[in-house]
Amino acid sequence: MPPIISIASLSKVYASGHNALKNISLDIDKGEIFALLGPNGAGKTTLISIVCGIVTASAGSVRVDGHCIQKDYKAARKAIGLVPQELTTDAFETVWATTGFSRGLFGLPPDPAHIERVLRDLSLWDKRDSRIMTLSGGMKRRVLIAKALAHEPRILFLDEPTAGVDVALRQDMWRLVRKLRDGGVTIILTTHYIDEAEEMADRVGVIRNGEIILVEDKAELMRKLGRKQLTLQLDAPLAALPPALAGHSLALAPGGRELVYTYDTKGEAGLTGLLADLGAAGIGFHDLHTSQSSLEDIFVDLVKERA
Ligand SMILES: Nc1ncnc2c1ncn2[C@@H]1O[C@H](COP(=O)(O)OP(=O)(O)OP(=O)(O)O)[C@@H](O)[C@H]1O
Ligand SMILES: [Mg+2]
Repeated sequence: MPPIISIASLSKVYASGHNALKNISLDIDKGEIFALLGPNGAGKTTLISIVCGIVTASAGSVRVDGHCIQKDYKAARKAIGLVPQELTTDAFETVWATTGFSRGLFGLPPDPAHIERVLRDLSLWDKRDSRIMTLSGGMKRRVLIAKALAHEPRILFLDEPTAGVDVALRQDMWRLVRKLRDGGVTIILTTHYIDEAEEMADRVGVIRNGEIILVEDKAELMRKLGRKQLTLQLDAPLAALPPALAGHSLALAPGGRELVYTYDTKGEAGLTGLLADLGAAGIGFHDLHTSQSSLEDIFVDLVKERA
């Protein structure tokens, strides 16, 4: 299946001279949830803005659902729903009117049943007759999502959709995103809540300083870069690590009552050997627990490594 979005050798130099994107190439598969992660100023919004036709690229090309974003702008844009990072809504309009209007912008006939469904999914139905300026910040952000979905796009960009949204509504929002994905919509999101990417994404891309430094299947990334730690609570404290255990990646916690074994999530073979060697050395333990690094740990390591 050809990718639904194909980005090739894309660069952006702003008029200020700032080189915000450097030779980016990236394919997005149909029906996936792709999380774009990166520190402030990395170029996430710039990339999204170019794909959505809001910012002009300095070099390179983008195809959306088979359409070139330059030669065939209208068709490309129609396939996309964009929830921008900045709140931009018409203060005096009602929720109902602004959402319906967004659909009309793409030349589609009115479909009140669809608009109602979208507003209900976003818990905005009760607010349909309210003017946007009377809504809270989190509600305004949901109106932006409703507007983006009004023309039933096949691709949805969410640029920091949950900034300023409370925990319960964030859960609702992710439920909606999953529902859209199940309906065949491709979703590209940026977020600074990396636990969200960990929970939601099929694939993760990390962008730093205008360059894509990693694109990986999320599960594969966690498997490859994730670390696990096994902590053993010893029956009797040790003054030092016995030489018999030198071959294992072990550390003795201060006080000598805990042994910490670090291993990567793909190689658990060393564990059997460790337990055998502990037994042979007469070291007993009465409790143990394991912990695993999160996508956040991996992300922080990655960004630090390239700094
Ligand atoms: N219109 C502009 N003119 C000049 N420079 C810009 C413009 N827009 C963005 N930049 C610069 O380009 C870089 C990338 O900005 P961008 O908004 O794409 O980052 P981001 O990854 O979305 O960051 P954040 O996580 O803070 O939203 C930044 O250094 C920013 O200052
Ligand atoms: Mg941004």
